[in-house]
Amino acid sequence: MSEYRVCMRDFEKEAKKVLPKAIYDYYHSGADEQQTLADNTAAFNRWRLHPRVLRDVSRVDLSSSLLGQPISMPLCVAATAMQRMAHPDGETATARACKTAETGMMLSSWATSTIEEVSLAMTSSQGVDGILWLQLYIYKDRELTLSLVRRAEDAGYKAIFLTVDTPYLGRRWNDMRNRFKLPSHLGMSNFSTATLAFSGGNYGNDSGLAVYVTKAIDPTLSWDDVTWLKKHTRLPVVIKGILTGEDAAQAVKHGVDGILVSNHGARQLDGVPATLDVLEEVVGAVQGRVEVYLDGGVRRGTDVLKALALGAKAIFIGRPVLWGLACQGADGVTEVLELLREELRLAMALAGCQSVSEVTRSIVRRQDFISRI
Ligand SMILES: Cc1cc2nc3c(=O)[nH]c(=O)nc-3n(C[C@H](O)[C@H](O)[C@H](O)COP(=O)(O)O)c2cc1C
Repeated sequence: MSEYRVCMRDFEKEAKKVLPKAIYDYYHSGADEQQTLADNTAAFNRWRLHPRVLRDVSRVDLSSSLLGQPISMPLCVAATAMQRMAHPDGETATARACKTAETGMMLSSWATSTIEEVSLAMTSSQGVDGILWLQLYIYKDRELTLSLVRRAEDAGYKAIFLTVDTPYLGRRWNDMRNRFKLPSHLGMSNFSTATLAFSGGNYGNDSGLAVYVTKAIDPTLSWDDVTWLKKHTRLPVVIKGILTGEDAAQAVKHGVDGILVSNHGARQLDGVPATLDVLEEVVGAVQGRVEVYLDGGVRRGTDVLKALALGAKAIFIGRPVLWGLACQGADGVTEVLELLREELRLAMALAGCQSVSEVTRSIVRRQDFISRI
């Protein structure tokens, strides 16, 4: 019998009980003092909903699209690494849940399932009928990087999400204290050597992942590499990790197809703003030229509604999926997605919105406590 879970907090509480400490710490932690980690969720409380009434909300249509692909709701799954630490089925379980929910999944470069396995989990007799995107880290070895892109293209992935906020890994104190590394039976499945698969190895007195990133990931990454990637793939390229209007404008200038406003779940540079607090700046700079998405701290349907109202075309969740996986594998992730779907449906109905297109800027106002003092 599974526990009766009524909100995202219940999932995290249960996951914390079942996961080994070092794994829970890796999934949960932010960087340094975790100021941004706290702020990502707190930011949603700084905005209030201003509902309209008497609008016949007997039916609420949550359907939307992302880069032209239909999704059943504007809520998708962000890349989180090494999901088999949460459940033996790992990323394939998440893929099955996303397929059931008819929404998209972003697969991490550092998945513990291969690009092809995950695509197969999304496949029915009619072909790949789920929506998959590959999150890409650019390795110092560019041929290796492009081989991941080729494999995603061949396996039916619909876009590349290029992560740009990780030239080095943020300092995550718990991972340093735990000397975090993958359990010995697991590896990053998309790589053929033990070193690149982060499998085994001695990382000294540090977070193993931080050592891995310093060795393998290319810190010279610049806007030229966005042009380089665009040239080497026929898939749309979305930039993941934009936090300023200036960089958003640069991204548009470099021909990207979408922008994900993200601070990597507060795991990189501590002290950056909550993503919700910079969403409008990015949306303003982009001026409708490409789609803008948001992740970071989204735990409730009302959070999704607020981000939509501030201009996000779709919202992504990271940790909640890991908690769902830890609680109950694919069924747990399905439960997480359906919980958030139901919360969003209710929030839209109570705010007087019959469809996603009716969620406009006018239903949110910032609660400015300081100016009242
Ligand atoms: C455990 C964990 C692993 C992550 N792994 C990756 C990754 O491999 N690649 C990436 O671009 N982002 C990664 N992220 C960041 C997520 O894609 C996303 O930006 C973040 O989790 C959203 O915030 P939330 O967890 O508060 O929903 C990871 C986040 C977590 C919590």
